[in-house]
Parts: sequence; structure tokens; C-alpha cells
Amino acid sequence: MHEMQVVEIKKIVRETKRIRTFFLDLDVNAIPGQFVMVWLPGVNEKPMSASYTRGDLGITVLRLGDFTRRLFELSEGDLLGIRGPMGRGFKIYGDRLLLVGGGVGVAPLAPLAEEALRDGKEVTAIVGALTASELLFVDRLKRAGARVLISTDDGTAGRKGFTTDVLAELLEEESFDQCFTCGPELMMAKVLEITRSKRIPTQASLHRYFKCGIGICGQCVLDGTGLRVCKEGPTFRDKELRRSHEFGRYWRNAAGQKIYFGRR
Ligand code: FES
Repeated sequence: MHEMQVVEIKKIVRETKRIRTFFLDLDVNAIPGQFVMVWLPGVNEKPMSASYTRGDLGITVLRLGDFTRRLFELSEGDLLGIRGPMGRGFKIYGDRLLLVGGGVGVAPLAPLAEEALRDGKEVTAIVGALTASELLFVDRLKRAGARVLISTDDGTAGRKGFTTDVLAELLEEESFDQCFTCGPELMMAKVLEITRSKRIPTQASLHRYFKCGIGICGQCVLDGTGLRVCKEGPTFRDKELRRSHEFGRYWRNAAGQKIYFGRR
């Protein structure tokens, strides 16, 4: 799994203006929550969550910086270097599951929802974005049989506000066995705060700058825990994250400097 494979891009789907899914000629049965390292020769290698885990592996990418801009320049039939799938995926417990995804963070939650629904679980998904046109996988989740609640920052779809507003209101009325979250880290920190007050065990998928991606270099260790995001993560249990003074506050760039969330 750690060896690089050169694989063809079979299909590219434009999900929103800034988000695309790349289906790869790679059938590896990933666990939802696992990631692959994507290598663009001469550019860089970056971790990407699997958004389709059965059949052709899919990665769903937000165009954000130089790497993703170069990725978006590729076409169907072009080749990519891939290592993986790697890391620890989500683990499903209980029957009533709640998913909270913000922006492109919905990517690893969608295959999780599909898998849980196939196993007869009940799934409620709170999906949020800045605006209606940036909502990801709403139809996919509904088709799979999930109940979907929407929030947008600007109120163009669903409730005006944040996913965490919808979550807080929902948990006043209902209870769930397990919550799963992925999205901006400040959002996930708030999700964990809310679910903790309701005693709902929660797993979160983290994003960090990776160098080796296989647990060797120490770049992605979560301060205060010794846990490596690429190896023991990228999904973590709430109790693991509570041991970290890094989660919800900062991440480290390639030079190891702390970059605080919410500051520019
Ligand atoms: S990226 Fe090297 S240990 Fe995680």
C-alpha cells in the first residue's frame, strides 16, 4: 500500500465551481475516512480523503492552492502517482448515526453514510457550506437514504448559519449513538463541544500537512498526544482529541511553524 502506483484518471466530475471528483483506475476497497497520497511530478505530494471507496476510488478536491490548481489542469486519461489507501478510517458503532460535514469535509462522510445505510443504520447528515452552490453531495446522501439537514452561511439554502447551529438545535430534540465530523477544524472543535455535552461519542477526521504520510517523519504529530495524523489518524475519537492542546487551535506548516486557525 505504501508503494507508489501510477494510475489513470478515469473520470472527472465537476461537483461545484471549486470542487471536483477524480475517479481513478484503482479498485482497492478503502475504508471511509482513509486517505491516499497524490503525487504530481514536479509539484508535490498531498493527502486526499477517499470520497468513493468501492469500485473506482474517488477523491474529491477543493481548488485552494498551487497543488490543487495543477491537479485541476489534468484531464481524463492523464496519470497520477498514488500511495494508499492509508491511515485509520471511521469505525461505525450503534444504529443511529449523525454526520456533520462542512464544505469539502463532506467528502469522507458520504461513503461512510452509504456504507452505514447499506448495513441498515439510520443516518442523519448535517451538510454546510458558505453558499448554496458550494453544498457538496446533498443529492448523493439523499439517494443513499440519509436524512439531510442543510445550513449555509449566507442563508441561500437551508438554515442560515452554521452546521453547529443545526446540530445544537437537533440535539435538543433527538439523540444519536455516534457522531462523525469532517470540515474546518474550528467547526469540528465546536461539534465535539456540543456532542460531549450530550454524551454522544464522536469521531473527527483531521487534515494536517504531511511529509512522509507513513508515520516516519513526525511532521503530523498532534501536540500533547504523540498521535500521528497520517498513521493513528486521520480519524480520531473525541477522547483522543481532548488530550491535544493543538486540536482546534493550530496546525504546523512545512517548516514546523504553528499556524493558528482563524488567523490570516
Ligand atoms: S507525515 Fe510523516 S509522520 Fe505523518
